[in-house]
Amino acid sequence: MDGLSLVDSVGNDEAVIATNDDAASCKRCAVALGYWHDRYISYFVRSTDRKAPEINRGYFARAVAIKILVDKFIEVNNGNCQIVNIGAGFDTLYWRLIDEGKSVKGFVELDFPGVTSRKCLYIQRTKQLLQAVSDEDYDVKLNRHNLHGHTYKLAGVDLRNISEVEAKIKESDLEYSLPTLFLAECVLVYMTIHRSSQLLKWIAENFKSAFFINYEMVNLGDRFGDVMLSNLHLRGCDLAGAEACQSTETQRKRFLDAGWAGADSYDMLGIWARLPPEEIARVTQIELLDEQELLNQLFSHYAITTAWTDHRWSDVQL
Ligand SMILES: C[S@@+](CC[C@H](N)C(=O)[O-])C[C@H]1O[C@@H](n2cnc3c(N)ncnc32)[C@H](O)[C@@H]1O
Repeated sequence: MDGLSLVDSVGNDEAVIATNDDAASCKRCAVALGYWHDRYISYFVRSTDRKAPEINRGYFARAVAIKILVDKFIEVNNGNCQIVNIGAGFDTLYWRLIDEGKSVKGFVELDFPGVTSRKCLYIQRTKQLLQAVSDEDYDVKLNRHNLHGHTYKLAGVDLRNISEVEAKIKESDLEYSLPTLFLAECVLVYMTIHRSSQLLKWIAENFKSAFFINYEMVNLGDRFGDVMLSNLHLRGCDLAGAEACQSTETQRKRFLDAGWAGADSYDMLGIWARLPPEEIARVTQIELLDEQELLNQLFSHYAITTAWTDHRWSDVQL
């Protein structure tokens, strides 16, 4: 077994787990204001306070961009593919896909057991969530940290421990030969570069045809980045993997160094410019934005990086 060292700063884990509550609460607020449609997020977050308009727009840009990329991957594969959401938190992607009739062969969510146990509980007690993971020919198996449905699997695991990840993936009945989309939204940055590259290497070596969507920080080396880092530090959360978040180039490089065949990375300013204009026109009517400069700063400090082990997926772009 691959033990964790002090460098992995296990004491930081509670603060990292709490970032999921923040993300879910921000999504809940933006959805309630009408930025995008998600009829499931309120089952995971009962209530939330109102967030600043630039936070809502930031979450909107990320949600819509990732939706476009995920949908394209499923479409080019005609559904004959799998999705692994790493550090999934309370993400509701699986339920959206079911509602839209976009089925895939396997859907796996991984997170710390402290998060998956809460997700298991919410799914178990909410008919609308449970129905979508159930199948009349297959009994859902549930324990404290894991849920095993026919297509949907939720597993508690520390992503820094490759042998544990490997065991969970095996139990999830994924096929290494099928095209597989890996999604990570603000996850890798909480691991040391050594641990995240181990994970990326393992994926590239084992999945013949993998595509990765990574949303996380960039430009952490400038003044605004310093403020982001110290705000997180004050909340007890240190970004062990900040080194890969210096630029879109360091984001690309981390995949290429880990054996991926190709990668692209765009900051959210660039992504915003590629979003459907009618969607931008719609959401800019939702609430007044006084701080355009602050939104631009935020957008230039987050990026979406895509990477592939199979050149067929290099066309899955915004
Ligand atoms: C900022 S939250 C994002 C959650 C979700 N991806 C989203 O965008 O809503 C980061 C998530 O990564 C998970 N995470 C970070 N490091 C992890 C690790 N070593 N093992 C398992 N999960 C981890 C946290 O528990 C948390 O749920």
